[in-house]
Amino acid sequence: ERLVIAVDGPSGSGKSSVSKETARRLDAVYLDTGAMYRAVTWHALDAGTDLSDAAAVADAVRAADLEISTDPDLESVKIHGTDVTEAIREPFVSEAVSAVATNLEARAELVRRQREIIAANPRIVAEGRDITTVVAPDADARILLTASEEARMRRRGLQLGGTQSAQDLQRQVVARDAKDSTVSSFLIASDGVATVDSSDLDFEETVQAVLAAVTA
Ligand code: CDP
Repeated sequence: ERLVIAVDGPSGSGKSSVSKETARRLDAVYLDTGAMYRAVTWHALDAGTDLSDAAAVADAVRAADLEISTDPDLESVKIHGTDVTEAIREPFVSEAVSAVATNLEARAELVRRQREIIAANPRIVAEGRDITTVVAPDADARILLTASEEARMRRRGLQLGGTQSAQDLQRQVVARDAKDSTVSSFLIASDGVATVDSSDLDFEETVQAVLAAVTA
């Protein structure tokens, strides 16, 4: 039976780990759309593309040979044959990614590819910032995973291994959220989207809340 689940949320809401586990429990595949934005950003930087040149960024995204794993147990992202699975998590990518995320032609191209991947997979959990609203508004279940700013900073800090000061981290996450909110209102659930607030939930409780929203 076909099952498409759309999950959106801000940085540090736990959306990647929760979406991955939800996919495993539902015997579905998993799509990390943020990894696609990160990979094309990594490539644009690597190729010396001028990120302030919107037409050049859009061209680079349209030409990108991008391969992303949809296996929830195998994280793998390749661009033009280079494995960038680890590299795309580096802070220099997080800092530059809004050049792609705010580029409407680049978004249109990535949304098109995301819809193709969703169409090719009968059971899928797709996760990002605009999945419930733009990529898959007709999904079987649409969930906005939120968390208080405090809980999100705590999780981001843990994810990055505590190498950055709390203040640096807060500054970066708040700045990226502000940039992101110019293209998608991911902090407000649109009609028909269930909100799961994970601030006071542990990992398993959050997965259970998402699964409950799927069957509701
Ligand atoms: O690190 P974090 O989980 O916050 O972000 P991510 O999911 O890896 O996405 C990285 C960036 O890609 C976001 O900050 C957005 O700028 C952009 N993005 C987007 O615009 N639309 C999506 N569907 C997914 C990500």
